[in-house]
Amino acid sequence: MYENVWETVVKQIKESAEIHSVVLGGMGEPLLSPFFEKTVNELRDKNLHVTSNATLFRAKLTTDIVKNIHSFVVSIDGMQEQMYQGRGVVFDDLISNLDFLNYLKKMNNLDNPFLDIQFVVSRKNIQDIFPLMDVLASKNIRNIVISHLVPQNENQAGDILYSRYENKEMKEMFHKIKIHSFKRGLRMILPEVELKTERKCAFVDEDSTFITSSGEIVPCYRLSHPGREVIFGRPKSIRQYSFGNVINKTILQLWDDSRYVSFRNKIHNNHIPSCPDCDLVDGCGLVHDTEFDCEGVSPSCSDCMWSRKFVFCS
Ligand SMILES: C[S@@+](CC[C@H](N)C(=O)[O-])C[C@H]1O[C@@H](n2cnc3c(N)ncnc32)[C@H](O)[C@@H]1O
Repeated sequence: MYENVWETVVKQIKESAEIHSVVLGGMGEPLLSPFFEKTVNELRDKNLHVTSNATLFRAKLTTDIVKNIHSFVVSIDGMQEQMYQGRGVVFDDLISNLDFLNYLKKMNNLDNPFLDIQFVVSRKNIQDIFPLMDVLASKNIRNIVISHLVPQNENQAGDILYSRYENKEMKEMFHKIKIHSFKRGLRMILPEVELKTERKCAFVDEDSTFITSSGEIVPCYRLSHPGREVIFGRPKSIRQYSFGNVINKTILQLWDDSRYVSFRNKIHNNHIPSCPDCDLVDGCGLVHDTEFDCEGVSPSCSDCMWSRKFVFCS
């Protein structure tokens, strides 16, 4: 964030009795921010959660910082080869960073920060989950959250492990994972493997919003930045969808903006179409982007893989 945006956001959050919890995360790495320590200090009463790749734990964390953080969600998507190829991370260094956090907690008699692991699963790394559980069993982990891949290009499209219809292979695999985690004393949170009727937006249902690095108020991670998705083989452009900027209006004014309220009502009440199981999807011109759904609601959430519980963003 630019400093003026950061100052505005932090001031508004601190002064609002209605904001109970803050997640420092998104598409970037929060520990890289020059304001990370200041942010934790300023917002220490706001039930802070941090989503991180943990690569900077040893370099950046101190007792004064960690005691003010409620939880860390750390991304680990595989063992040595996967982590190096996929993220350029040396697995043993990463594990030693988790040890460092546990050391700080132990030395200071702290229960928090709780440590959750997020594993984005695909055909490329599914087998790594078993040895990873063996390593994590002794690392004081609260939850291992498995989330599916949202392919961002056609090359990744075949790597997904969820399907529109019956998915016996993955049900059996998740059963094996559950048994293994049970033996290791680990708690797993597993995603759906088949398309279900139920849809639920965690952002809308938990009264959450997302503030981008330039101060835009957007509904969620997915609509926070331009990007691409491939949904069951169909390419889709995603654009940022902003309800306004915190420099011009307060977070609460933007939250109460009639456009945003109406959007949340539609999503909460599921008054939106469902593209993945629509008979017309292969001929529809509206599914190529998120501009509008076929009932005129903008942005379109009808193809959202988060609402189907295929993908989790903690
Ligand atoms: C984009 S990362 C950014 C936060 C932090 N720097 C990190 O590496 O975890 C936030 C979360 O999104 C997940 N993620 C990244 N790319 C994804 C994709 N294509 N599909 C599903 N989840 C993805 C990550 O594994 C992580 O849990």
